Amino acid sequence: MNTNDVAGELQGRHIVLGLSGGAACFKAAELCRLLVKAGASVQVVMTEAACQFITPVAMQALSGRPVYVSQWDARPGNNMAHINLSREADALIVAPASADFIAQLAQGRAGELLPLMCLARPIERVPLLIAPAMNREMWAHPATQRNLRQVAQDGAQVLGVACGDQACGETGDGRMLEARELADELIAFFTPKVLAGQRVLVTAGPTFEAIDPVRGITNLSSGKMGFAVARAAREAGAEVTLIAGPVSLPTPRGVRRIDVVSALDMHEAGVDIAQSAHIFIATAAVADWRPATAAAHKIKKDGSGEAPQLGFVENPDILAEIAHSPRAQSGELFCVGFAAESQDLQANAQAKRVRKGVPLLVANIGPATFGKDDNALLLVDDEGVSDLPRASKRVLAQQLVAEIARRVSGFAA
Ligand code: CTP
Repeated sequence: MNTNDVAGELQGRHIVLGLSGGAACFKAAELCRLLVKAGASVQVVMTEAACQFITPVAMQALSGRPVYVSQWDARPGNNMAHINLSREADALIVAPASADFIAQLAQGRAGELLPLMCLARPIERVPLLIAPAMNREMWAHPATQRNLRQVAQDGAQVLGVACGDQACGETGDGRMLEARELADELIAFFTPKVLAGQRVLVTAGPTFEAIDPVRGITNLSSGKMGFAVARAAREAGAEVTLIAGPVSLPTPRGVRRIDVVSALDMHEAGVDIAQSAHIFIATAAVADWRPATAAAHKIKKDGSGEAPQLGFVENPDILAEIAHSPRAQSGELFCVGFAAESQDLQANAQAKRVRKGVPLLVANIGPATFGKDDNALLLVDDEGVSDLPRASKRVLAQQLVAEIARRVSGFAA
């Protein structure tokens, strides 16, 4: 399974997807497809203006349900589409939300079905998310900004916007987020906020230890597990900083990423960020040694057939150092280590937990998981060992975050 897959992420959820007028309607088609793929049932509601950009036929085909446009639609037995549609929804998401639609929301107007339905929703029970999309001048206009503040104050969650090329040919703020980003925001929205208020530091990926400007020593860690953990922690409400070694993975939404190369860089950044973190999850496969000296220029063959002699020095143990810091020792910082072993998983993991001085150690067989999308984990703490059976790294990351949250609330109590 691909970790980027959305399958099952919104299983059993009923989403009302609203479209107001804008060129970004084409992205709403992809969003609809993704929500359905994620297991949600999707009911599309469109404004008259949206129908100028994409047809209800297309949206019906993608959602598998007839689309609602008019408040006078006589199909519902009680002729109250605005009431029925909003009562059935687990969430309403309006994407794209045009400047005019946001103005209508801000004023509580109900001139057509979509704003009427938003106004009629039970505000405490049915969340409203909006994804604005408009020209950069319209976005920057004080009226739009004023309306956005108002709708946020009235309980809507505003998603985005992005900066970039616009349909009008101009460049700037006001682009709607991509369909995948919106689907991820919706998935995050439904995640229980078990880490709300927590600052989480995650290290991920390999490190690269330079021999000379073109060569170095690294390892096979892909960073996938650490990135999945960072994403799951953010979805659980944490403020997440991800210190990443050299990997080519996209940054999870809402996560602050610091790219580093060597173990020394990762150590410097890690020690700094850990000073204000509540949870440190060390998933990185940090190189244990680095060449004693990195040559300033490429080391050349000298024709003798002799290989250069490389001396090594040990890198600082980032996890052990942070786990032995006063904040970790006093319980202000909860440290979680990973162990990549090649044999005797349990015995090695238990010994490593003690050596690193961490309350929780997560062990796996390194060669069996590096670069893959799934894994199986063994959790070791002072109460013993427990398994997280083989699953995608996405699912394991979610389970691990729940395990950490449970221990942290116990820890703080
Ligand atoms: N770790 C670290 N800094 C290092 C080495 C490891 O922060 N210099 C962290 C890893 O991120 C991981 C844990 O320590 O959370 C264990 O890493 P691992 O490579 O399994 O263990 P080592 O410390 O290298 O021990 P050994 O070589 O004996 O397996």
